[in-house]
Amino acid sequence: MKKILVATGGGDCPGLNAVIRGIVKRASQEKDWEVWGSFEALNGLMEEPTRLIKLDVKTVAGIHVLGGTILGTTNKGNPMNYPERQPDGTFKTVNRIPWLVDRLKSKGFDAVINIGGDGSQAISQAMFEAGMPVVGVPKTIDNDLSSTDFTFGFQTAVQTASDSFDRLVTTAASHHRVMIMEVMGRNAGWIALYTAISGGAEICLIPEIPYDLDVLVERIKGRYNEGRGFVNIVIAEGAYAKEGTITASKGEFGRHSVRLGGVCFSLSQQLKDAGIEADIRETVLGHTQRGGTPIAFDRVIASVFGVKAMELVLAGKFGQLVILKNNDYTAVPIQEAISSYNVVDPHGTLVQAAKGLGISFGD
Ligand code: F6P
Repeated sequence: MKKILVATGGGDCPGLNAVIRGIVKRASQEKDWEVWGSFEALNGLMEEPTRLIKLDVKTVAGIHVLGGTILGTTNKGNPMNYPERQPDGTFKTVNRIPWLVDRLKSKGFDAVINIGGDGSQAISQAMFEAGMPVVGVPKTIDNDLSSTDFTFGFQTAVQTASDSFDRLVTTAASHHRVMIMEVMGRNAGWIALYTAISGGAEICLIPEIPYDLDVLVERIKGRYNEGRGFVNIVIAEGAYAKEGTITASKGEFGRHSVRLGGVCFSLSQQLKDAGIEADIRETVLGHTQRGGTPIAFDRVIASVFGVKAMELVLAGKFGQLVILKNNDYTAVPIQEAISSYNVVDPHGTLVQAAKGLGISFGD
């Protein structure tokens, strides 16, 4: 029997289980492939004793509708920069990729399917370059991976954000308030932009278009002067003022990126300081956008990605990332996919259409 290892890495995302199920179901149609899962990304393989699970059609029955990942995940312990305790108690980061590839081979694995975002796919590429046959599957609610039109999980996050936005509109209207809703997305404004169009926001603030506070104040005062006394704002967690900086907390140990969050409170204070007298309330949607069952669209993308990833393994096509491009499911070299980010084009069709709907970006 040939053995494949499946891992889910980085932040969880609706649709991960549907990918796992797709891989296992497709593999089960072959006689000579066994699928194994590693718990918490590749940590399950790296630890001693290992934490691995054999996956068969019974294990994955019905999981495509479940949020999260049955394998667990982590965004700490990147094997490319692995924190290793030194004899004096301090930590030093080391590249454990060569060791990891040796370990995969010594445990009898013939291939790896690594499901994850940009960080996880950088690990996929490093393993591939070190001689491991790897296929990647792009995951993230942020939709910031280039090469694919959509990552699975994004549409579910937008749906959640849009549903919450609708609720904030009726309470904003009742109290004549300014409501600021903060959504995730790191340095990409996709969730904010889609939610603003879907919900009919007055203002949408994204990292790709630093905002001018004076423009926002004028817009808000204009709404109240017109007698339409409420304003709904969607702000991406990575958005910032032209003269300002991103709102981030410190990094966490073993984690490669700083945590974002809290920008809605900074904006609220800026608006008050700039003379907005209306009541302002802030909502951070946070991890509600990542949790729960995937919507149908994401289940479809994720399930097809799973089947396609397994088929790439069967065809011996490695170092590839499955993607959805122009309504077709295909693949590109992982290296190509991680070489740039997919961010919102400030001059692109969607932003122009949003402006056509009267949404201000504060520019
Ligand atoms: O990348 C997905 C994401 O949800 C981002 O939108 C967000 O900034 C980050 O992960 C949050 O990470 P954590 O779950 O570690 O707080």
